[in-house]
Amino acid sequence: MIEIHQPILKLRNIKRRFMLGETSIDALNSVSLDIHEGEFLAVWGPSGSGKSTLMNIIGLIDNPTEGEVIFDGQDIHLLNDDALTNFRSEKIGFVFQNFNLVPVLSALENVMLPLQIQGVVEELARGRAIAALVDVGLERFKNSLPDKLSGGQRQRVAIARALVVNPKLVIADEPTANLDSENSSMVVELMREMNRVRKVTFVFTTHDTRLLDHVDRKILLRDGNIISDEVTA
Ligand SMILES: Nc1ncnc2c1ncn2[C@@H]1O[C@H](COP(=O)(O)OP(=O)(O)O)[C@@H](O)[C@H]1O
Ligand SMILES: [Mg+2]
Repeated sequence: MIEIHQPILKLRNIKRRFMLGETSIDALNSVSLDIHEGEFLAVWGPSGSGKSTLMNIIGLIDNPTEGEVIFDGQDIHLLNDDALTNFRSEKIGFVFQNFNLVPVLSALENVMLPLQIQGVVEELARGRAIAALVDVGLERFKNSLPDKLSGGQRQRVAIARALVVNPKLVIADEPTANLDSENSSMVVELMREMNRVRKVTFVFTTHDTRLLDHVDRKILLRDGNIISDEVTA
């Protein structure tokens, strides 16, 4: 059983409107949500339901049109751009649908990158990156370039890269969209294990309902609204 602590994220009445010329699209209508430390949760729903928009707001890479975002006790509106960039790089890890590994860097160098951006010295960064690769079961591929790895292995490297900064929260937008069903479950199970072992909170999106069996909590979005928010664990 995972211990649940205070909210790491509070969203209050979040609206996100996109303008397309004369017309507007309300990608999120009035979303309120608390995410607690230690949770492993999925946001699911059809294409266009607002999942990526919500992930971008949770990941502090987009601002809502209206509403309040409180991350780890901090009202995000009160941070300037530099402070927000630092805050995000310390607290949040990202996993993407297309893996987003740097093709000319080895698995190890890819995992070291976020630490080097933070100014961590090389030897320390290397040690932490190797530990993260051990955690995802890929230490023996540390010198491989991404194109020598399978899709599932690339996503595991991307998970190691997200975890290496010891984030509070990892956000994964459709992390399994480019994987077959076997690799999809493997990637979700790996995130699950990292949630347990490293005590990192995970939020991922999917439109694959089979993956919902692995989560503690699932939030269904439709047309920019939360239709249901079920705790299953
Ligand atoms: N940058 C954008 N500009 C205009 N419309 C957008 C933009 N991003 C998303 N949308 C629209 O917002 C709605 C929700 O999109 P999105 O969050 O990408 O949904 P999902 O990830 O669930 O497929 C869709 O109607 C989409 O077309
Ligand atoms: Mg999306």
